[in-house]
Amino acid sequence: MRIDIFTLVPHAFAWMCEQRPVAAVLGSALDLRIFSYRDFTPLRAGQVDDEPYGGGAGMVLRVDVVDAALEAAYGAVGECSPRVIALSPSGRQLDQAYVEELTAESHIALLSARFEGFDSRVHDHLAPEALSVGPYVLSGGEIPAMAVIDAVTRYVPGALGSTESTTEETFSKELEGRSEYAHYTRPAEYRGWGVPEVLLSGDHARIAAWRRESSLARTRA
Ligand SMILES: C[S@@+](CC[C@H](N)C(=O)[O-])C[C@H]1O[C@@H](n2cnc3c(N)ncnc32)[C@H](O)[C@@H]1O
Repeated sequence: MRIDIFTLVPHAFAWMCEQRPVAAVLGSALDLRIFSYRDFTPLRAGQVDDEPYGGGAGMVLRVDVVDAALEAAYGAVGECSPRVIALSPSGRQLDQAYVEELTAESHIALLSARFEGFDSRVHDHLAPEALSVGPYVLSGGEIPAMAVIDAVTRYVPGALGSTESTTEETFSKELEGRSEYAHYTRPAEYRGWGVPEVLLSGDHARIAAWRRESSLARTRA
């Protein structure tokens, strides 16, 4: 799978590239490419933004700058092979179904903005699909992009360690979309806080039944 990020803050992604799940498949099953708008801007002195027509606070990421970056990566408009998605607080909200939909793609491109966001012609002509990580406003699209990359990469074969899995976790088909059951580990007693006796019993049938109940209760809560 290939994921391209277009950003004003390319160095923001360094930490993520050193951690699982990305680090485990980077350069093999995952081809992750970071494009800086400033490297492709046709404007002088690395300019990428401008004042909003009509006035108002903040700067707007220019459509010609975003277009130049896309063209440098993929060729002229219309030739884009990836699924191009603009990151925006008012986009389609990311949930597990959307994540799984994206895992089926071989190539996606995530466009990140800062300031007041994109010139609207980016949404109208270059990236009609918009993705939001939630109904709140962040200062830039880098954290949303990382959320998408992490969530999608978990499904890339080899990305997760042997103790991790996308099965039997919250929202999974195995749990019929419910929350995952509660987990406990040693010590069995801490400050008088115990562990459900059934989990120490070794009785797999009872443990499975308890986990189903725990999952149901956590989903209802
Ligand atoms: C400060 S925000 C712009 C907010 C915009 N002025 C508005 O009111 O909708 C700058 C950029 O951060 C990114 N961003 C902020 N919140 C986001 C969210 N919840 N989901 C996805 N991207 C987000 C987007 O790329 C956005 O263009």
